Amino acid sequence: SLLPVVLAGGVGSRLWPLSRQLHPKQFLSLDGGPTMLQKTLGRLDGLETQSSIVICNEEHRFLVAEQLRQIGSDNRLILLEPVGRNTAPAIALAAIAATQDGDDPLLLVLAADHQVQDIVPFHDSIKKAQALAELDYLVTFGVVPTFPETGYGYIQQGTSLGQGFGVRRFVEKPDAATATAYLESGEYLWNSGMFLFRASCYLQELERFHPDMLHACHQAMAQLENDLDFTRIDNEAFARCEDISVDYAVMEKTQHAAVVPLAARWSDLGAWASIWELSDKCEAGNSYHGDVIQEDTRNTMLRSESRLVAAIGLEDLVIIETKDAVLVADRHKTQDVKKIVERLKAEG
Ligand code: GDD
Ligand code: MG
Repeated sequence: SLLPVVLAGGVGSRLWPLSRQLHPKQFLSLDGGPTMLQKTLGRLDGLETQSSIVICNEEHRFLVAEQLRQIGSDNRLILLEPVGRNTAPAIALAAIAATQDGDDPLLLVLAADHQVQDIVPFHDSIKKAQALAELDYLVTFGVVPTFPETGYGYIQQGTSLGQGFGVRRFVEKPDAATATAYLESGEYLWNSGMFLFRASCYLQELERFHPDMLHACHQAMAQLENDLDFTRIDNEAFARCEDISVDYAVMEKTQHAAVVPLAARWSDLGAWASIWELSDKCEAGNSYHGDVIQEDTRNTMLRSESRLVAAIGLEDLVIIETKDAVLVADRHKTQDVKKIVERLKAEG
């Protein structure tokens, strides 16, 4: 059976200043409706699944519990990480939890901060992936790329496997020149960052490529502490894990990857530019949120939280106003917001 695993431990630093350490983007609503975490779970309605596992930083436990309660799904396992070690260890914790009583479910690993607009093809791709995961493939969901995004993984599609394709090569976050070459070759798909595999298959690959990490995760899970609705793991053991994403740790290395095409208007709302892409825009290509006004401005994102923002004669910018910080950035460079956040952190 299918066990959803929701990764909700990222910091969402590219959506600064809206996304903050204490309130990362997966816990925000970008459109006034349910939060991204709530939408991630809601999107599974209609699929046959077990009750999901949510993995997040312990700092966000009350936010997560409250958001799950609001959508009537408070009976899930919430695993708390004392520190973020990226997605490879987080998925390992879920895989270990899922196999603890002798089961070996198929894990549907989901990011908590994606948008998927078409549910029917989304469910259809999951069912195809399920068939391949039953055959012990580690299945990725591939999206036809439309521009040379450097923040994504790229999958070179191999031969047909019936419900999907083999993977000839998986390259995480290539540089701009490489991404452009991949796009032009027509042979690559974007990795959507969702995965479907048998828990034991993932653990086996981790054992092969990162045995120390697997060992540390087993130790961390040997000392579980239940606290209200939450399951805390052992801090010291988990802190010993290498900080690495599943893409680098497993997907770039495994020989058992498969890819199922996903055509469901997916996007990772990772940076402001991708939110602008998806927003409703005026004829001049501007998107508006909050109290904003413009003259002679084009292809610009204008977002205000607390004050009136006025723009004149601008083009291709992203302007995000919040109470205590304002971002003004070239629309093509919003991946670099991460760099600002890192500097702010370093400078205290
Ligand atoms: N529990 C937990 N712990 N979750 C985490 C952690 C962690 O330490 N770090 C990140 N996450 C969560 C994030 O909240 C997000 O939901 C998901 O894991 C993916 O992390 P990102 O940091 O957003 O990854 P990315 O966008 O740079 O890259 C991944 O997704 C791309 C598509 O969106 C990769 O899989 C790429 O290959 C892929 O193209
Ligand atoms: Mg992401």
